[in-house]
Amino acid sequence: MIITKEQVLQALGNVEEPDLKKDLVTLNMIQDIHIEGLNVSFSVILTTPACPLKALIENACRNAISHFISKEAVVSVNMTSRVTTQKNTGVPGVKNIIAVASGKGGVGKSTVAANLALGLAKSGAKVGLIDADIYGPSVPIMFGLEGARPQASVVDGKTRIEPIEKYGIKLLSIGFFTDPNQPVPWRGPMVSTAVKQLFNDADWGELDYLVIDLPPGTGDIHITITQTFPVTGAVIVTTPQNVALADAKKGVGMFMMPAINVPILGVVENMSYFTPAELPDNKYYIFGKGGGQKLASQLDVPFLGEIPLVKSISDSGDAGIPTILQEDGVMTKAFTDMAQRVAQQVAISNAKALGNGAIATV
Ligand SMILES: Nc1ncnc2c1ncn2[C@@H]1O[C@H](COP(=O)(O)OP(=O)(O)OP(=O)(O)O)[C@@H](O)[C@H]1O
Ligand SMILES: [Mg+2]
Repeated sequence: MIITKEQVLQALGNVEEPDLKKDLVTLNMIQDIHIEGLNVSFSVILTTPACPLKALIENACRNAISHFISKEAVVSVNMTSRVTTQKNTGVPGVKNIIAVASGKGGVGKSTVAANLALGLAKSGAKVGLIDADIYGPSVPIMFGLEGARPQASVVDGKTRIEPIEKYGIKLLSIGFFTDPNQPVPWRGPMVSTAVKQLFNDADWGELDYLVIDLPPGTGDIHITITQTFPVTGAVIVTTPQNVALADAKKGVGMFMMPAINVPILGVVENMSYFTPAELPDNKYYIFGKGGGQKLASQLDVPFLGEIPLVKSISDSGDAGIPTILQEDGVMTKAFTDMAQRVAQQVAISNAKALGNGAIATV
């Protein structure tokens, strides 16, 4: 029997991308088809390396060849990715900007932002993280970079700040430019200028995702960033208590205002339940159960996951090594799953913004 390229395309035309609800061939996701006798190989270009449906799509491809062409075919699938983008983010080379926000302070934005950035990078994406919290920068401590000072370099005749690279991601924090012992009395216009410089005057290079750790609430920094840079979407962090949920709603309200208009990628519930390290199967819902999920359904946005309350998270934050890099257990799984869901929502949002056509990549 002779297998043809057309047969392969026809067979894979039966495989639907579950999120984008179109087949892989229409979406232009199949490339490099090679056939030698019964050996069939091809690449599937996913919209993110952090795709949670990777294994499912690969299986569906194998089944389609076996079902529609021949059970004898020996199939080799190369699962690869090219992260999509939908609009100019205002930062050259950066495909997607993801803002991590909450209404209330101290709910775990910085923890979520750091572990999200590292989770995306772990899957193979190129990632940057901006700590835009002028009043209480966290990245220097969380990444063990206290006292670090970024270098400046001259690129195309312009002076550029070089982000600091650590654990495979590029970082900039307003805290790299201030003295923690000398509090700076920031005024509105200074804040706005300083924050814009973190985006505009830095040499970010090519990034799939630039994650922004925002300060609590809804202030100048949020407005500056969202009005200057087209943010791909916002991740809202809340804890299960009613007061946090009410504040999270206010945070969401700000992003939905017509003048700001940033899509909400979903809600992450942090400190969902307490788990003692020695009894990881025991879950104590000390602040109530299901609040984050309820908020997500009220707002009609995806729920991106529950992150348990464990002492090791705050220890790891203080020790300068974020949790996702430290243990191989419940926390790493919670953060990795969350990062995949965020990447999935970015891909869906990009596909929607691009309309019905094939997936555009820049
Ligand atoms: N799931 C968790 N389990 C245990 N400790 C946590 C968890 N999430 C965050 N923490 C700890 O709670 C404190 C506050 O977290 P974090 O700094 O991430 O919050 P934030 O929302 O960024 O705060 P701020 O509003 O001040 O910016 C930190 O000490 C952090 O290590
Ligand atoms: Mg913070």
